[in-house]
Amino acid sequence: MKHLIDIKDFSVEEINDLIKVAKNIIKSPDKYSHKCDGKILATLFFEPSTRTRLSFESAMLRLGGNVLGFSEASSSSVSKGESVADTIHVVGGYSDVIAMRHPKEGAPFVASVKSSVPIINAGDGGHNHPTQTLTDLLTISQEKGRLDNLTIGLCGDLKFGRTVHSLINAMLRYKNIKFVLISPDELKLPEYMIKVLESSGVEYIETNDIEEYMGDLDILYMTRVQKERFFNEQDYIRLKDYYILNLDKLKNAKKDLCIMHPLPRVNEISTDVDDDPRAAYFRQAEYGVYIRMALIMYMLGVK
Ligand code: CP
Repeated sequence: MKHLIDIKDFSVEEINDLIKVAKNIIKSPDKYSHKCDGKILATLFFEPSTRTRLSFESAMLRLGGNVLGFSEASSSSVSKGESVADTIHVVGGYSDVIAMRHPKEGAPFVASVKSSVPIINAGDGGHNHPTQTLTDLLTISQEKGRLDNLTIGLCGDLKFGRTVHSLINAMLRYKNIKFVLISPDELKLPEYMIKVLESSGVEYIETNDIEEYMGDLDILYMTRVQKERFFNEQDYIRLKDYYILNLDKLKNAKKDLCIMHPLPRVNEISTDVDDDPRAAYFRQAEYGVYIRMALIMYMLGVK
């Protein structure tokens, strides 16, 4: 039985296969509409979500399966003091695969140790978000036609942004990748992730100026300042609008730049960018359904 806790749990070959299946689903969705007949996905979300939970549910429904679950801890027996381990033990008897989001780093890993069915980490604290990364990889592959030879700007909250940490870990395994890390000093990539970059030998630059390397970028990955991870509201208020991407800031950008954002957006991309063909973030959210369809089939051993 396979779990997906960290994107590194999957080999590059497994990831490339998932992307291939997702692209087939995009081309011929009808061929997949009964692949998971009779199977049940549980979505256990101890933290809010729109895209991840609903795209998982849409994915399972489009495969012919069923879904059950909860969207907040307060509507589960966790609010009465039940442990994650006990919850997983029980829900494993109600479902064939579990997608779980939790505010505590490592909670999905703890769940996987106790689970009788595959666990998919749907985001754990500021740590990892591997299914967002699969979504991002499908997006890059679809929009750029490749997953290597890319200069990727990561902008915003690189400290708490779990999507950034997972994406770096994934992209490090492709050829000729360069990173431009754009953040205020307080939200720089954590030391443990810098060590990951250093030990891989990948080229990277840190800056706090979003325009400094704009002309070099193939991908600009914007992120929200993660309000829910701050201990001090004043710090959040001071940093939340540090970057606001608008058409003026894109004046030196490549014509085929791909602008991504895992969403939700707050203020970090001005809505005047939405109509620019380089803005891929709403297409990215839709790709999330297709890659999760491919992932659910893989986790359930469906050909
Ligand atoms: N990208 C993402 O994880 O969005 P949600 O928090 O809405 O699931």
